Amino acid sequence: MTTKKETTLLEYYQEHELNPVPIDVEDQVGWKDHVIKRRNLYEKHLMLPTACFRDRAVIEFGCNSGENALYLAALGARLTLVEPNGQVLPRLRNLYERFGLDSRIEALVNTDIAGFEAARQYDVVLAEGFLSALAERDQAALKLCSLVKPGGLGVISFDDRYGSLMELLRQMIFRRVRQLAAVEDPHGEQSLELARSLFSEDFGRLNASRPFAAWWEDVLVSPFVSWKGLWCYHEVLTLLEQADCEFYSSSPRWVSVDNFTWYKNVAERNCRHERILKEWNNCFAYFLTGLVIEAGAIGPAPAEVVESVDELIKKISGFVFSDDVLVDELHWPEPLGEYLGGCRDARIVAVSREMKAMFEAIQADDLEKVRAGYQQTKFLRNLWGTHGHYISFVKA
Ligand SMILES: C[S@@+](CC[C@H](N)C(=O)[O-])C[C@H]1O[C@@H](n2cnc3c(N)ncnc32)[C@H](O)[C@@H]1O
Repeated sequence: MTTKKETTLLEYYQEHELNPVPIDVEDQVGWKDHVIKRRNLYEKHLMLPTACFRDRAVIEFGCNSGENALYLAALGARLTLVEPNGQVLPRLRNLYERFGLDSRIEALVNTDIAGFEAARQYDVVLAEGFLSALAERDQAALKLCSLVKPGGLGVISFDDRYGSLMELLRQMIFRRVRQLAAVEDPHGEQSLELARSLFSEDFGRLNASRPFAAWWEDVLVSPFVSWKGLWCYHEVLTLLEQADCEFYSSSPRWVSVDNFTWYKNVAERNCRHERILKEWNNCFAYFLTGLVIEAGAIGPAPAEVVESVDELIKKISGFVFSDDVLVDELHWPEPLGEYLGGCRDARIVAVSREMKAMFEAIQADDLEKVRAGYQQTKFLRNLWGTHGHYISFVKA
């Protein structure tokens, strides 16, 4: 077994001089596109109208070069920005000056969430794109919650364990192809070119905000999109309860427990969270694939199926990021195959069939066979699962 140095997400970005989300907002077209997407996230998905931010004290952790908060500054938020990566701060300052929004920044603090000290609370607390990758993520989440004023809002995003299966699958295929092509360095030029030859056409069909190279480094070869960097609703809701906070909304918007209920029938927080998690099992095939499935086409995922995905993700992570797991130990799990195979939606049945075939194809010792095994798939190539999830919550 090879022992690898555990790096933090921040060290990973700094070592590779990676701006993981370089959103191009400088020209009018880029800015408009960014605003439309952020507005859609807040208003249509998280059900947070712009008034939630106007003249509010908003703190964002891990703001990177500040493009997301720039939208909130334009809405009139009073910003505290906390970012440990000093490399991105010159771009941040420059951007706010160019937009004439620098006066909206009340504080810009070059530290991480653990090092941030505040003697006050905020109307809105944000942490996007890094929390699930932290070794001490539970403490970080509890700290975030503690910074929300009573009645205030928190918004976090995380890489979902089950929603990331499609990304992990691409990591697995890519690792196998790299093995066969003898491309040792996952972060080198050869690796990037190989990734492009396999995935850039599919990536091009995604409505992504970032360029292919940023996805390659931040997802495809990132050690943080692995078992250790993935979170799930069960763990997050448990933490919210500990911190006296309640789930408010999510993106993707899959929670419907409050629909069609009379508002006077109030569910206790823990009870409501339990109902949300029960609904989660009904949406399992959606989380895995990203395909919207008609209600009743598939039953709730049994514990055995969920566990088989847990095991699979651990194995794929072991194969991709260490030499602990060999390729012949990777198989499409039977309980999962049976569960998806029993779906009344033919697309889900086909996905499961293609998955099984893909796991067989990577066993070949021939690079072209593995490549063809992926490129000939009809569904998998166009599926990205539901990797990134947002949760908003309210402090009691
Ligand atoms: C994937 S980027 C996301 C940037 C931005 N929030 C977004 O969603 O577009 C993750 C950001 O979190 C920052 N970060 C990493 N570790 C952190 C920590 N412990 N505390 C606060 N921020 C952290 C990184 O430097 C980086 O700017």
